[in-house]
Amino acid sequence: MADKNYSVPPANSSGFFRPGRGGAAVKPKNMKGTLYRLWQLTRGKRNGLGFIFLLSALGSAAAILSPYVTGKAVTVISTRGAISGILACLMGLYLCDWLVKFLQQYLMASIVQRIIHHIRSTLFEKMRELPISFFDRRQHGELMSRLTNDIDNISTTISNSLTSLMTHCFTVVGILVMMLYLSPLLTLVSLLGVAMIFMLTKIVTGKTRKLFAMQQKNLGSLNGQVEESISGLAVVKAFCREEQMEIDFEERNDALYQASVKALIWSGYLMPLMNVINNLCFVLIAVISSIMFVNGSISSIGLITSFLLYMRQFTRPFVDIANIYNSFQTAVAGAERIFEILDEQSEPEDIPNAYSLKRPRGDFEFNHVWFGYDPNRPVLKDICLKIPAGTQVAIVGPTGSGKTTLINLLTRFYDVTSGSITLDGHDLREYKQSDLRDAFGVVLQDTALFAESVKYNISYGHKGATMEQIREAAKIAGADGFIERMPKGYDTILEQGGQELSQGERQLLTIARAVLADAPIMILDEATSSVDTVTERKIRRAMLNICKSRTSFIIAHRLSTIRDSDLIILIENGEIAEQGTHDELMAAGGKYASMYRTQTGE
Ligand SMILES: Nc1ncnc2c1ncn2[C@@H]1O[C@H](COP(=O)(O)OP(=O)(O)O)[C@@H](O)[C@H]1O
Ligand SMILES: [Mg+2]
Repeated sequence: MADKNYSVPPANSSGFFRPGRGGAAVKPKNMKGTLYRLWQLTRGKRNGLGFIFLLSALGSAAAILSPYVTGKAVTVISTRGAISGILACLMGLYLCDWLVKFLQQYLMASIVQRIIHHIRSTLFEKMRELPISFFDRRQHGELMSRLTNDIDNISTTISNSLTSLMTHCFTVVGILVMMLYLSPLLTLVSLLGVAMIFMLTKIVTGKTRKLFAMQQKNLGSLNGQVEESISGLAVVKAFCREEQMEIDFEERNDALYQASVKALIWSGYLMPLMNVINNLCFVLIAVISSIMFVNGSISSIGLITSFLLYMRQFTRPFVDIANIYNSFQTAVAGAERIFEILDEQSEPEDIPNAYSLKRPRGDFEFNHVWFGYDPNRPVLKDICLKIPAGTQVAIVGPTGSGKTTLINLLTRFYDVTSGSITLDGHDLREYKQSDLRDAFGVVLQDTALFAESVKYNISYGHKGATMEQIREAAKIAGADGFIERMPKGYDTILEQGGQELSQGERQLLTIARAVLADAPIMILDEATSSVDTVTERKIRRAMLNICKSRTSFIIAHRLSTIRDSDLIILIENGEIAEQGTHDELMAAGGKYASMYRTQTGE
């Protein structure tokens, strides 16, 4: 979902004194630190930045000088002198102004885009290095928003606001100097006016900021509801909750309306008020300067013209600076969120001299393994297990007992909190991470398919597989039947990333993928939970063939499908409650036996 909860106030440089829209600026937690890191990213591009800085100064010079020259022109006209030289000078100034602005934008865009490109690649690379635990802790939508929105924000804001900010600062200082030079007394009057406008802006924006924040919040809540209603429309209809949905929507829509109207009215107050005060100041200065001209303390009409023009230009940058600073803050906050990801701990590196693992035999041993996602709340408690190579292990137990967690430890998606797991006599952590993962063929509970062809999806773990092999794998997984029925068979594109298939069909495709990958160790985590019993048996039989002579771990809820396993482990509450073959466990007459009887009705 588009997560633009912060509006970037428009960095208008036209208009007189516009009210700070006061859109809820997101404040960075550590402005200085983040700016410093951004600054470091400009390495190698600082000459360009210095040049832009220079251009800003030059551009401001044009803005600062032109009212002065205009004043001169007025004086010349009033004394009937030759004006063409001055007019040419004025034209030259405006041309220079345009040229400088153009160059500035051009340079800034190319520098900023290069930096952004770099940030984007670094961030994506980082995503690859991050451990699964990082993604488990976060909403994927939020991560996506960081990759897209935040980076977008940085690029637009920095290129826009940084240049304006520089130019504005130069302009304000330059104009102040010119005004002081022209008439200290009039400058004092103008400053009083500016101070008044400034205070007023503060009061009104204080009020509007709250209202705009409220508006954003209501908008967010409305968006959330719309998204929920659309994605859950089937459920809404099934439970006949359309009316309630509409009532909820109306409520939120009303709240948003109220807040928006208030916010707009308040910010609407400001603008006319500003104009009134501004015009009053303008008139006041015109009157005072006329009086001064009449009694001779001002020498020329041109000076008055210049001063009034300066006065007009002087107030403008102030609010602009405030606005730009707001959006600048938002961008810095975005950069901060990106740096947060870059600072996350990557997956632990391979230890020096890590073993490579070509075709492991598949001897596993769990030695007093403790593990908790939160180290203070163990999920697996003191697991001790010996699994000789080639064993077909079935893991059973109630939902939430820790079966998937056990698997996560094998593939090192997570590392044990204490104790150790060994494979072929060495701790898992002593192997090269990539070799270790290569050794596993995994079919997980959540099926992940890509919006590509069926063929592509099956051969995902085995690039370069022939069509023959793909077909064979699909056959073993029992997926060939429905694939053939698809409009383009193996070339059908899964437009919605597999959402158009049934859960069971998705599972069959992922099984085919694992079959094709032909890994020495197989893991099936409730891989057939959504497949009918007949198909499941078929797959099971085929899998038995494939798994023959290789270690495999199968998590299943239908006990009848795993009764032939070499070793059945019953996990309860993170502990091994029972283990043995089907016959042994049945003979023991424990929990497994009663579970089995309940399921089969024997
Ligand atoms: N990523 C995670 N972060 C925190 N807790 C988790 C995570 N995954 C699972 N758990 C918790 O660990 C326990 C075991 O979960 P799991 O191994 O998935 O159970 P199951 O036996 O159903 O596969 C559950 O209480 C679950 O809430
Ligand atoms: Mg599970």
